[in-house]
Amino acid sequence: GPLWIPLFGCFLKFARLRLKHGYIYLAMQDLERTYGPVIGLKLGVQKVVVISTYDLVKKALLQDEFNNRPDGFFFRVRSFGKRKGVLFTEGTMWARTRRFTMRHLRTFGIGQSVMKEQLVLEAQNLIDHLQEMSESGAVTMHTAFDVAVINSLWFMIAGHKFEYEDQKLQEALTLVHDAFKLMDTMGGVVSQMPFLRFVIPELSGYEELMEILENLWRFLDEEIKIHERKLSNDPPRDLIDAFLLEICKHDENEDTVFDRENLLVLCLDLFLAGSKTTSDTLANIFLFLSLNPEWLRVLQAELDSVVGRSRAPTEDDLPSLPITEAFLAEAQRYLILAPLGVPHTTAKDVFLNGYRIPKDTVILFDYHSAHNDKAYWERPNEFRPQRFLDEQGQFRRNNYGLPFGLGKRRCLGEQLARSTLFLFFTYVVHYFDIEISAEHSKPNLNGYDGFTVSPKPYYLKLTRRSSCDDDPHVTRASTHDGTFGLLRRGLISLNS
Ligand code: HEM
Repeated sequence: GPLWIPLFGCFLKFARLRLKHGYIYLAMQDLERTYGPVIGLKLGVQKVVVISTYDLVKKALLQDEFNNRPDGFFFRVRSFGKRKGVLFTEGTMWARTRRFTMRHLRTFGIGQSVMKEQLVLEAQNLIDHLQEMSESGAVTMHTAFDVAVINSLWFMIAGHKFEYEDQKLQEALTLVHDAFKLMDTMGGVVSQMPFLRFVIPELSGYEELMEILENLWRFLDEEIKIHERKLSNDPPRDLIDAFLLEICKHDENEDTVFDRENLLVLCLDLFLAGSKTTSDTLANIFLFLSLNPEWLRVLQAELDSVVGRSRAPTEDDLPSLPITEAFLAEAQRYLILAPLGVPHTTAKDVFLNGYRIPKDTVILFDYHSAHNDKAYWERPNEFRPQRFLDEQGQFRRNNYGLPFGLGKRRCLGEQLARSTLFLFFTYVVHYFDIEISAEHSKPNLNGYDGFTVSPKPYYLKLTRRSSCDDDPHVTRASTHDGTFGLLRRGLISLNS
């Protein structure tokens, strides 16, 4: 990598490249072009290695030595200066908290019929909400999915859902958006140069970060207090109940992961990791669709012919909707959400591609480069869902896409996220025609560069489609000039 100078390392060069390209992952890719697929950086106090290409990303993700998480000011600040929760912990704290969370997300929903039922209810509410908003003009899309997405997780965590008008939730969701903009994948400038929070607390973002965290802690603490007041010896109703009952089983002085602080931080981790990821993915996909309406027509044609107009899509329709499945798989490859994933660190000195990487080095995985690796993806810079279809037009799974990571740290909400994405996406495509709003500026895919790349505010005109099978508009969409049939058999390529 580039030369390191005392105190700053190569921060100034990195900062210049970030300014030039607008995005951290593009700055890294600029360096990758000069230094190759494993680059060593020193950003202030932090040693960082960026790993790119599909082969190296996969190889490292599957190695235990690469699966710790960074420690330091930023990674502890959300957990009262300690190492708590599931997102930025390792060892026993991480393993037990993760095991507990996965077990109880399964008990209270994931993979069960109750989750399917709740998602359907939530999808219906989403459609009603969008309908209501569309009646008074263009719909604010970058936040349109926030409540539906958090509700699909919250009924398992806290046993209830929020109303769209819930003021406290709206404030918390705004804070989550702000937090993701404020922090970057490496924890932002205060993480690289922690002394800056004393020198320039406002400019460094430290003050704003603390204000966001205090509000989110308060919001989640109230939720836990409500559970504490109602706690009984009855079987737990949700994840918070189950955690509180575990706390009761352990002595206060015992060395255990089950304490109240860990519960609060776990709720925060799930609230952060489980909301913005899914809602931004949906918001990004609809932004893309508004710019590429030919794809909207193809997807509506498939839904009309498989589901019909008189009922809503269900998860059971998925195997009969290969184009929709291929479209979503390609959208997760092509549209950029978390180009550098969540940072890892090395648990010990480790060798990769001929380099020795010291213990405690921050590792960034360049997922964007893996998703655009020419060795695995033909014409990667084109949006081509057809790559996920076989000759018969059936969905063809492809293991080179890594939207949820790989290995021990793989996303623990993947199953929920996949179901939520599919259902909310198909509902909106099925029920609405989508156009760019004439009263607002044309949306673009250049989102905010933060912990994720999140869409900037954008607005669409949504028009309810007919629910009648013999509507002439629908009949036209179902046959769609034969494009649907041709595309399904992979005979034409519809490029965006
Ligand atoms: C489209 C939606 C989502 C995407 C694209 C996504 C993607 C990811 C990725 C790339 C990672 C990092 C893996 C690594 O560090 O190597 C991750 C971790 C994580 N995700 Fe997700 N995620 C999504 C939804 C969710 C949901 C709904 C939840 C909540 C249940 C969730 C909870 C987590 C947690 C807790 C981790 C940290 C796991 C650990 O460190 O052990 N995610 N996710």
